[in-house]
Amino acid sequence: MNDPVENAKRLAAFKAVDNHVVDGVIGIGSGSTVVYAVQRIAQRVKDEGLEVICVPSSFQAKQLIIQHGLKLGDLEMNPHLKVTIDGADESDEILTLIKGGGGCLTQEKILASCAEEFVVIADYRKASANLGEQWSKGIPIEVIPSAYRVVYNKIEKMLGGKSDLRMSGSSKAGPVVTDNGNFILDWIFEGAQNWKEVEVTLNMIPGVVENGLFVGMAKKAYFGMSDGTVMERN
Ligand code: 5RP
Repeated sequence: MNDPVENAKRLAAFKAVDNHVVDGVIGIGSGSTVVYAVQRIAQRVKDEGLEVICVPSSFQAKQLIIQHGLKLGDLEMNPHLKVTIDGADESDEILTLIKGGGGCLTQEKILASCAEEFVVIADYRKASANLGEQWSKGIPIEVIPSAYRVVYNKIEKMLGGKSDLRMSGSSKAGPVVTDNGNFILDWIFEGAQNWKEVEVTLNMIPGVVENGLFVGMAKKAYFGMSDGTVMERN
């Protein structure tokens, strides 16, 4: 594979699947890195007889599971997951994450919360010392559509910074609508913060469904590097 970023995603995903996926129910995150994880799971099912049920975090993840011929499950039937594997938009050194670049943060956080292990896979561009060093698009916040303006005002008043309503496509014809029928605000924050406090504060605002800060949830992260190695963080 010639593209160093794609190669890095694949290396991280394959290593995480090989180290963490065993027979049982697996949570499948969303995004471009997760594609490689699903490929690897499907390969192991075929080659080794691995027996997994995959619970998707999004429409995209569901399609991936179906396309790869894997068994599809849901949280109603399978509320306990052995492991959830997912990408991230940015991770600091203690695995505080920004997620939701693809707008699937609510289901992703639910899957992360009911897994014995939550494992992150990403390429080298996502690893930083402090949040905001690499990812400049802010923290995604899923909001009830009718409340987006109210939430926007409250965030500005309580936490400062600035929020943008995420628009769809290059023509920005209308707001992005999540799998849950909601809108996404991207909150551009100023400087370092107490991320646990921010996560809780955001979720206390009426109209907020969930936010893309994942604090203290990830157990392990694999970052594919440009030199073909994989960096691990605990
Ligand atoms: C989607 C997410 C993704 O996991 C995140 O955006 C990373 O995506 P990619 O693997 O394409 O870099 O949180 O809501």
